[in-house]
Amino acid sequence: MIVYASRTGNIRAIIEKLNVPAVQLTAGLAMTEPFLMFTYTDGIGQVPSSVETFMQDNGHYCQGVIVSGNRNFGHDVFGRAGDILAKQYNVPLVRKLDLRGYQADYEAVEQFYFERVVACKRM
Ligand SMILES: Cc1cc2nc3c(=O)[nH]c(=O)nc-3n(C[C@H](O)[C@H](O)[C@H](O)COP(=O)(O)O)c2cc1C
Repeated sequence: MIVYASRTGNIRAIIEKLNVPAVQLTAGLAMTEPFLMFTYTDGIGQVPSSVETFMQDNGHYCQGVIVSGNRNFGHDVFGRAGDILAKQYNVPLVRKLDLRGYQADYEAVEQFYFERVVACKRM
C-alpha cells in the first residue's frame, strides 16, 4: 500500500499512473500493514503537518518514503520532506520527484514496492 498526501494534485496524478494500491491520507487513518509514504514538500523544506501527525502514529509500519517537490525552491530544500522523514524513521528515500516526475521515477517506485513492500507483507 502507498499512503499519499496531495494538496495541489501532482501526487494524485502520479498515483493514478502507478500499478500500486494506494490510499489518500485522511485524518485518523490507521495502518495495520506495511506501506510507503508519498508526500509533497511544504513551507520551506517542511513535512506537511498532516503527514507528520500520521507518521507519529503509524511510522512503525512505514517501509520507505517517496517525495515530490519543486527544484525551483533550491537545492537545499528541494524535496526535503522526504529527507527528513527517511532519516527520522530510518527508512529508504525511495525517490525524489520534481513535481510529477518522469516514467523512470514511476518504474523505480513500482520496483521498490513489489520487491520490498509486498515481500515484507509475506513474511
Ligand atoms: C506553499 C508551498 C510550499 C512549497 N515548498 C516547497 C519546498 O520547500 N521544497 C520543494 O521541493 N517543494 C516545495 N513545494 C512544491 C510542492 O512540494 C510540489 O509542487 C509538489 O509536487 C506538490 O504536490 P501535490 O500537488 O500533490 O500537493 C511547495 C509548494 C507550495 C504550494
